[in-house]
Amino acid sequence: MRAGRFITVEGIEGVGKSTNLRFVKEYLEQQDLDVVMTREPGGTTLGESLRSLLLDPHHKDMAVDTELLLMFAARAEHIAALIRPALTRGSYVVCDRFTDATYAYQGAGRGVPEERITLLEDWVQGGLRPDLTLLLDLPVTVGRERVAGRLGSADRFEQEEADFFQRVRDCYLARAAHEPGRFRIIDATRPLPEVQSQLAEVLAAWLEEQS
Ligand code: TMP
Repeated sequence: MRAGRFITVEGIEGVGKSTNLRFVKEYLEQQDLDVVMTREPGGTTLGESLRSLLLDPHHKDMAVDTELLLMFAARAEHIAALIRPALTRGSYVVCDRFTDATYAYQGAGRGVPEERITLLEDWVQGGLRPDLTLLLDLPVTVGRERVAGRLGSADRFEQEEADFFQRVRDCYLARAAHEPGRFRIIDATRPLPEVQSQLAEVLAAWLEEQS
């Protein structure tokens, strides 16, 4: 059987990831593909427990290396228990964030040297890299306005200042410019139907390339 494909979706807070992830899943299912939707940090029972620790504002002063290692601990579990088995079965794995988020948040956001993240990426993932990364992009001010309109209290990352998210966004855009074969940038400032038609267009063209 042909191995599956690994698709990741990235972007700063407020880009509309949840709604658009559901759209991506449904679009692929309409093409008769078997889709497994998951997220990071999380995706497994252990990973979701690590996610709770990582997002909990009580751990506001968590050391940067602790945060980095917990992200990769959750990822190691996710790859072993869910991602690799699903890809081996031939499924399309659609993941809400992956290692680009580590480069953006822990690297550019928190100042972890890129080489340290690369070391962990190679160790934990071996050769596993996303086949396609959809970057939902919008200006930080717009993302923050959208998040401010949500109910519920802000998690440990959402409590960061605008300049943190500016570094995160700049890092995502720099990575996309560096790997144009893997990344597709979606303009998330547009109204939802337009964002979804951009997604449908990108997915149709990419699936065509795969066949
Ligand atoms: P989410 O709320 O968008 O699902 O993501 C949870 C938070 O985790 C989000 O603020 C980004 C952050 N994150 C990192 O800092 N590094 C990572 O490697 C991942 C996967 C997420």
